[in-house]
Amino acid sequence: MPSSADRAPTTRVPTIIVQGGAGANPAEAGDYRQGVRDAALAGWRVLADGGAALDALERAVRALEDDPRFNAGRGSVLNRDGAVEVDASIMEGDRLQCGAVAALSRIANPITVARRVLESRRQVLLVGEGALAFARSVGIPECDPASLVTDRQRKRHAELARQPATRGGGTVGAVALDRNGTIAAATSTGGTPGKLPGRVGDSALIGCGTYADSSIGGVSCTGDGEAIMRVVLGHRALRYLKDADDPDYAAKVAVDLLVDEGGGQGGLILIDWRGRVGFATSTRLMPVAMMSPALDEPRVPF
Ligand code: GLY
Repeated sequence: MPSSADRAPTTRVPTIIVQGGAGANPAEAGDYRQGVRDAALAGWRVLADGGAALDALERAVRALEDDPRFNAGRGSVLNRDGAVEVDASIMEGDRLQCGAVAALSRIANPITVARRVLESRRQVLLVGEGALAFARSVGIPECDPASLVTDRQRKRHAELARQPATRGGGTVGAVALDRNGTIAAATSTGGTPGKLPGRVGDSALIGCGTYADSSIGGVSCTGDGEAIMRVVLGHRALRYLKDADDPDYAAKVAVDLLVDEGGGQGGLILIDWRGRVGFATSTRLMPVAMMSPALDEPRVPF
């Protein structure tokens, strides 16, 4: 297996896989299908034109953030105080460059802020007001916070007040391999419903919700953030991928780790350095869609 440092420019078969959250309600599978399909296609168009994995991911994840059916960007769950606070991260696997934001308000597409953090090369993770100030400084417009709140999440918040629960659902993410052999991964979420203001989940943490190493693969996780953080799921999943050389098997073993040692539920999507995809979840539904040159249209296996 080549190391990313040694890797000469290659021609690889581009591939993208996206996920729409391990907490998705199976009764709403039809709604999610169109959303993940469209996101995979949006990212795929970039890869098919010879574009970079990071550009493909940003396009795909923005499509999911803009789709109110998913718990990211517009449509995010509300925190204890009824506000949207989002987390997102993105990583490219050639030079292990990464960027992330957490507990960020007033921004419709947090994945783009995370990407700008990556490009800044000065820091990896910015939170709260500092992240918002950074977004302003790089010209990303603030939005009216009310525009991120959907009726569905407002109702859910009211129900939560009567019957507390902690499960999230609908976190979004994507992993892509481009023609140059670069693998990148990205994740974006509103977090868990009713969370304390300032709570940060796995989706903002490199190695937990997101990881990419072009010599091994890339991964985006979804599910119980605290459990994912306890087992550093993203990084562990890539260790399994390196050892097993089998993306589906690595994904299953990683989910077992999340359940058995992390004590939580969730799932993940993977691409290995050859362009093979894998995914697994311990939940009833994790919307997934993938696209590669072998397919006429995105495969939506749920
Ligand atoms: N996995 C998303 C979160 O727990 O915030």
